[in-house]
Amino acid sequence: MASIKINSLAKTYDNGFQALQCLSLDIDPGSFTVILGPSGAGKSTLLRTINGLETATSGTVCVSNLQVNKQNLKSIREHVAMVFQQFNLVSRLSVMTNVLTGRLAKRHSLLSLLYLFPKEDYAIALKALERVGLEEKVWHRADKLSGGQQQRVGIARALAQEPLAIIADEPVASLDPRSSKEVLTLLRDICREMNITVVASLHQVDFAREYADRIIGMNAGRIVFDGPPSAFTSSQEISLYQHETMEVKEDAKMALAYA
Ligand SMILES: Nc1ncnc2c1ncn2[C@@H]1O[C@H](COP(=O)(O)OP(=O)(O)OP(=O)(O)O)[C@@H](O)[C@H]1O
Ligand SMILES: [Mg+2]
Repeated sequence: MASIKINSLAKTYDNGFQALQCLSLDIDPGSFTVILGPSGAGKSTLLRTINGLETATSGTVCVSNLQVNKQNLKSIREHVAMVFQQFNLVSRLSVMTNVLTGRLAKRHSLLSLLYLFPKEDYAIALKALERVGLEEKVWHRADKLSGGQQQRVGIARALAQEPLAIIADEPVASLDPRSSKEVLTLLRDICREMNITVVASLHQVDFAREYADRIIGMNAGRIVFDGPPSAFTSSQEISLYQHETMEVKEDAKMALAYA
């Protein structure tokens, strides 16, 4: 269980684009937060700065009082698991081996090169696969599973890491509605049962309303809404998505210039 404290976070990419603009946010331990916002709002940039995949230009991110920086990167990656839109499984490897890679954050790198894991890691991985309901698929090749099942393997891999927090960047964007619900139910239940802090970005407002404890609305690198689903009214929704991001506006200008 981890709190996430984000203080005056800004990110300017090398090309000069300001993706995050002095953003502050405190996330409670064990809560399920959903980030909404139009494409280009900065959702992925924000999520990636939480586990150090992206380096902030200024400001700080702390996970359980551990500041995200180069010195702490190994500890941060050990405590913060990621779930990806494209699952990021090694397709030719078994479901079990994919889940075992979740243990690598805690193991020596030589073991990781050889895919050698101690017995106790197999027990942890099996437990994670049971939790996501895939104990029958343990030795199947990862790419033989459906999209929904592959994402459940992605969640099992995150669980095998025994993380304090799970960051999920559009975890259901590649899934049909039924699998999306299964995956979001799983993430929410894991969050509640295991007190794991979950922060997920979504494009489906209805799912955010159904599953989130808290909704953060982002636009052009800023937080423009912060509250419980009940406060995220249809007019809030319209205003969140009506305001185009700067980039979209720039694209539109370019298109007009070439018209
Ligand atoms: N490596 C990069 N270099 C330059 N600009 C970038 C880079 N990565 C992202 N951006 C820009 O930063 C802005 C925010 O991107 P980000 O991926 O965080 O948005 P997002 O809200 O996740 O969008 P989406 O909903 O499409 O995933 C966008 O304008 C994007 O083009
Ligand atoms: Mg994104």
